[in-house]
Amino acid sequence: MSERNLAVVILAAGKGTRMKSDLPKVLHPVAGKPMLWHVQASVASLSPEETIVVVAPGMTDVEAAAAPSRCAVQAKPLGTGHAVAAAREALQPLLSLVETDVLVVFGDTPLLTGDTLRRMVDARSEPAAPDIVGLAFRPDDPAHYGRVILDAAGRIEKIVEFADADSAQRRIDLCNAGIVIGSGRRLFDLIERLGSDNAQGEYYLTDIFGLAHEEGRPAGVVECPAEEVLGVNSRADLALVESVMQDRLRRRAMAEGATLIDPSTVWLSADTRLGRDVTVHPSVCFGPGVSIGDRVEIRSFSHLEGAKVADGAVLGPFARLRPGARVGEDAHVGNFVEIKNAELGTGAKANHLSYIGDASVGAAANIGAGTITCNYDGFAKHHTAIGAGAFIGSNTALVAPVSVGPGALVGAGSTITRDVPGDALAVERSEQKNRDGLAARLREERRAAKKSKAG
Ligand code: UD1
Ligand code: MG
Repeated sequence: MSERNLAVVILAAGKGTRMKSDLPKVLHPVAGKPMLWHVQASVASLSPEETIVVVAPGMTDVEAAAAPSRCAVQAKPLGTGHAVAAAREALQPLLSLVETDVLVVFGDTPLLTGDTLRRMVDARSEPAAPDIVGLAFRPDDPAHYGRVILDAAGRIEKIVEFADADSAQRRIDLCNAGIVIGSGRRLFDLIERLGSDNAQGEYYLTDIFGLAHEEGRPAGVVECPAEEVLGVNSRADLALVESVMQDRLRRRAMAEGATLIDPSTVWLSADTRLGRDVTVHPSVCFGPGVSIGDRVEIRSFSHLEGAKVADGAVLGPFARLRPGARVGEDAHVGNFVEIKNAELGTGAKANHLSYIGDASVGAAANIGAGTITCNYDGFAKHHTAIGAGAFIGSNTALVAPVSVGPGALVGAGSTITRDVPGDALAVERSEQKNRDGLAARLREERRAAKKSKAG
C-alpha cells in the first residue's frame, strides 16, 4: 500500500441553531471533554501532516480549543461544501504535492473511531481505488440524514439531502455520515463547481458525488456502524451520544480489569484511568483528570475529579475528591470527607465529615470526625501541614497557615492557630466545670414549679 500525505479538515463553523445554546456546538462536552477534542483524537491516530478546523468569524473559543490544530475561517455559513473551500488556502502548500489526500470530518460526530477513519484511508490505497470515497451507515431511523444512492456497480451515484429528497428516496436506508476522503486536487476541483440551487440554498459537500458520477469517475463507499456517526444537532442527540460514549468507556474500564458492580450507574470521563482489581460500587461519578491505582475500592455516591489515588486506598461512600487531591497507598477517605489540593499520605485516615484543603497529611496520620482545615481567610488560601502519625481529635479547626508535627496529638474540639511541635499534645478549649448534684436540683425545682401552676 502506498502511503500518501494526509490533510484533515474538521468542519465546525455551523451555527448549531438546533442546540439553542450560547456555547458553540462542537464545544459541548461528551464524557467531560468537548466534542471537537474527541474528533481531533480520532483524527490524530492517523498522524496527518496537517489538520485544519473550519470555524465561523468570532469563534475565538473554538479556535482556542482547537489548538494545536490551525483554524480557517468560513466567512458565512453557506453549507458544508463552502466550509471545506474555506480550508483550501491553508492547505495550499500540501495540495501542491500530487499525493496529498484530504479527509473531511464533521466536528459534531464525536463517536467516530480512528479505526473507521483508517478504513477510509485504506480504501484510497487499494489498486484502482476511486479518487473520492464517502462514508455511509444504516441507522434504525434514517430520520433527516442525507440518503446515499448507489449505482449498479456499488459506486455512489449521488447523495440527496433529506430536504431535497422525494418520498422514494426517503425510503432508502443507506445514509450519508458526512465524512469524505479524496485526492486533494480532485476534491477541490469538484467543490469549486458546486452550486446552491437546492431546498436550503447551500453549497452542499454532498453534491460532489453526483458531479463525480456524471463525469464517469464515481466515488466509492465505506460503511460503518450507525452508532459511530450519530451527529449531534440537538440536546437530545447530545444525550444519546453521551450514553453510547459512557457504554464504551465502561466496557474499556472492565476490559482493563476493573469491576463495576452496576456499570450503568457509573459515569466516567474520557480520560478516567482505573487500575487492576479496582472495585467501583453503584453510583460513582468520575469527572475529568482522575487516575486510580490498583486494588482501590470506591464505594457508592463518591464524586471525584482531578484526583490521583494510589494502590489499595478505600474511598466513600459519599467521598468527594476535588482537583489536586492525592490519596496515598492504603489510605481511607470516608463519608462526607472533601479533599482539595491536598495530599493524604500512605495509610492515613480521614473517615468522617471533614474538609481537607490546601494541606499535606503525613503517613498513618488520623484525622478525627469533623476536622476542618480553615484554609481561606477571606483574602488568600493558606497551607496546613500535618506530620506522619499525628492524631487530630474530632471537631478540630486547623487555622492555616499552621502545622502539626509528626506524632503530635490534638485534643478534640480544639481551634489550632499556632504550630504544634512533633510529639506534643495540644488542647485548646475552655476548662470544663462539673457542679455536683446541680442537674438533679434543677429538675426538682422545675417539677415543683409545674405542680404549683397546675394547682
Ligand atoms: C450533514 C450532511 C448530511 C449527513 C449529515 C450527517 C451535508 C449537506 N449534509 O447534514 O448528508 O447525513 O451531515 O451527520 O453535508 N458546517 C460548517 N459550515 C456550514 C455548515 C455546516 O462548518 O456552513 C459544519 C457544522 O459545524 C457541522 C458539520 O459541518 O460540524 C455538519 O453540518 P450540519 O449542519 O450539522 O449538517 P447536517 O444537517 O447534519
Ligand atoms: Mg449535523
